[in-house]
Amino acid sequence: MDQIVIRGGQRLKGRIPISGAKNAALTLLPCALLTDEPLTLRNLPRLADVDGFGHLLNQLGCSTTIEGSRPEDFGRVMTARATTLTSTVAPYDIVRKMRASILVLGPLLARAGEATVSLPGGCAIGNRPIDLHLKALEAFGAEIELASGYVKAVAPGGRLAGGKFTFPVVSVGATENAAMAAVLAKGTCVLENAAREPEIVDLCNCLVAMGAHIEGIGTETLTIEGVDRLHGATYRVMADRIEAGSYACAAVITEGDVELVGAKASEMEATLAALRAAGATVEDTKGGIRVAMADRAQPVTLSTAPYPGFATDMQAQFMAMATLGTGASLFTETIFENRYMHVPELARMGCDIQVKGRTAVVRGVDKLIGAPVMATDLRASMSLIIAGLAAQGTTEVNRVYHLDRGYERLEEKLQAVGADIERISAG
Ligand code: UD1
Repeated sequence: MDQIVIRGGQRLKGRIPISGAKNAALTLLPCALLTDEPLTLRNLPRLADVDGFGHLLNQLGCSTTIEGSRPEDFGRVMTARATTLTSTVAPYDIVRKMRASILVLGPLLARAGEATVSLPGGCAIGNRPIDLHLKALEAFGAEIELASGYVKAVAPGGRLAGGKFTFPVVSVGATENAAMAAVLAKGTCVLENAAREPEIVDLCNCLVAMGAHIEGIGTETLTIEGVDRLHGATYRVMADRIEAGSYACAAVITEGDVELVGAKASEMEATLAALRAAGATVEDTKGGIRVAMADRAQPVTLSTAPYPGFATDMQAQFMAMATLGTGASLFTETIFENRYMHVPELARMGCDIQVKGRTAVVRGVDKLIGAPVMATDLRASMSLIIAGLAAQGTTEVNRVYHLDRGYERLEEKLQAVGADIERISAG
């Protein structure tokens, strides 16, 4: 297995291009299943999960062609076309490797009137049930059965009737699945307490470009009036606000100065506020956002929350940043129950972190010492990279495949701003 090796202590300085957002790509790709016309997505990140989703679409009868695959290109253009669906089954083998596969449930149900999708099961950061995905679809008229580890959903008469669902807990994935199911319903579907993440706005904008009728985009109530058919479209995937935030933390911990090219401040206000609270200079530039730090980070108090709150996907990276801070930082994780798996690994590098239930206290130390560490999930992996960039000596990050799921050409981007980082291929 590949390893990433970092010799820490280099100040990051320069421009980092921000890729298309993984989480937006993973909900835009299944939109191709909603129409027999081509959907062209631009600025798709080059990531293992995006490739995996392409394969899933192929299994369902949707063709995919990719342009812009020269190695020097960031971002690719994919055209996906589901002229006819040849299958409505997302099998265990694919769903188990990529949780986001569950996002074909809504579109398949909308287009074909039925869908059979393997239950994703547990994952490293908690149980992650899909009950809300199913309840929302039921509220719109789907009949749902669970058997042999699969969800089978059927729209009686071939089309969902419409209805109203109020989410008891804000769920990004369930909002996405329900919105994609709703666009071809016979009647109107209303989603209350819907997630408002920028990736959901991106999804809704793409659906509208395909001919969907959606009101309330960006608010907690989405009203979707079903249409008889959708058409093809060309759509550009938004910039990855989590990737941008991750590199911002790397800049702060190395007391660097970077421009996150392509990042949009309006989509990551909570992250930028937290960077400012830590003492960073954050300013808009013509091409993106500049983040600079002249000193050690000041302590922060952060609690994760649905958008527009502080993203759970940024918690591990800020925690890494806080390990070299000037005092005690306090973190509260409210979204996932098992999202401190980076803590024991960070401890191997000399961090002082105490976890009690959902809270973690990070006391800043004067130095980190590089060590062999193991990545456990995507954002946890990034926290180890961030710590490694500032640690003395060499940090070896193992299980790099987690990073490849979510960071397009990480080592190349970091090398370009001065980091001493390389990938050692297992060969
Ligand atoms: C998405 C993101 C992930 C991010 C998360 C929260 C993608 C591919 N992934 O994950 O990176 O960390 O949003 O911002 O976009 N829940 C239920 N029942 C359900 C669904 C969710 O109880 O049916 C709970 C979850 O266990 C969790 C909370 O709701 O506690 C939020 O999860 P959700 O927003 O659904 O996360 P994902 O869509 O899986």
